[in-house]
Amino acid sequence: MYKIVSAIFLAENIKKIEIEAPRIAKKRKAGQFVMLRVNENGERVPLTIAGSDPEKGTISIIVQGMGKTTRELNSKEAGDTISDIVGPLGTPSHIENFGTAVSIGGGVGTAIAYPTAVALKEAGNYVITINGARTKDLVILENEMKAVSDEAYITTDDGSYGFHGFVTQKLQELIDSGKKIDFVLAIGPIPMMKAVAEVTRPYGIRTVVSLNPVMIDGTGMCGGCRVTVGGETRFACVDGPEFDAHQVDFRNLSDRNKLYLAEEKQSNETFSHRCRLGDRN
Ligand code: NAD
Ligand code: FES
Repeated sequence: MYKIVSAIFLAENIKKIEIEAPRIAKKRKAGQFVMLRVNENGERVPLTIAGSDPEKGTISIIVQGMGKTTRELNSKEAGDTISDIVGPLGTPSHIENFGTAVSIGGGVGTAIAYPTAVALKEAGNYVITINGARTKDLVILENEMKAVSDEAYITTDDGSYGFHGFVTQKLQELIDSGKKIDFVLAIGPIPMMKAVAEVTRPYGIRTVVSLNPVMIDGTGMCGGCRVTVGGETRFACVDGPEFDAHQVDFRNLSDRNKLYLAEEKQSNETFSHRCRLGDRN
């Protein structure tokens, strides 16, 4: 059992959960993830490690309550426990001093872009962050992103805060201003990562995305997380989750992620029904 030390909402439906996991906290590097089960009958879900405190022996994850398991996780509070956590898994982000590095987080993807922005800063890069959300209330980790950035931008789709538009429009604006950009990391919804890849492709800017296919074991054995990169099959859990954005077959990723939508919907509805029954008791 793994004890939850703190659990706070960063925005509606998005919770930061700090969990006691001393061995993972000591070993983990930016870009890696854990597989966890909320309870012993639960499904395994992959979640990127948003941060760690090796002294305290804790790791943090940031969870958007979308399906049954993530909503169940988001109902947890400090003092509650989680059944299993395995990690750190995946290949750490490739970090070096690229020069000027832009770290882009779209929505809850910012939770993953943040630790890599920290590592890029520590490696001596000039770090620019672009933190995008649909609306002001959904912006997360604003202060944290600012603290590691030489330049920090917020974008909102509805213009309620910061730059009015998508993260890609801000990136294009920076490129058009003549800024020399050597590296881009983009993490968020699939259409966003695909759009970022198309912005940087004509300029030959090295661009990396973190892929989020369905995962089952997280250790390269089941094949559930296979993605197509450069025409080859790769396993996101061991070969990734980060890949060259210009080589990723985003359509294949998107199609595969829709395979279990019916089952996910049913399980979500059963969970909602159980919650409503619980409310009446
Ligand atoms: P969202 O839909 O609110 O989008 C966040 C931002 O991404 C937008 O504000 C916009 O700036 C940008 N964006 C979205 N669509 C775009 C497009 N077509 N072109 C250019 N920019 C675009 O994001 P959300 O609701 O927080 O995201 C949830 C999704 O992100 C889920 O599908 C989840 O699975 C995925 N996700 C992916 C990862 C990952 O590892 N890649 C991690 C966490 C979440
Ligand atoms: Fe099973 Fe990657 S999750 S091979």
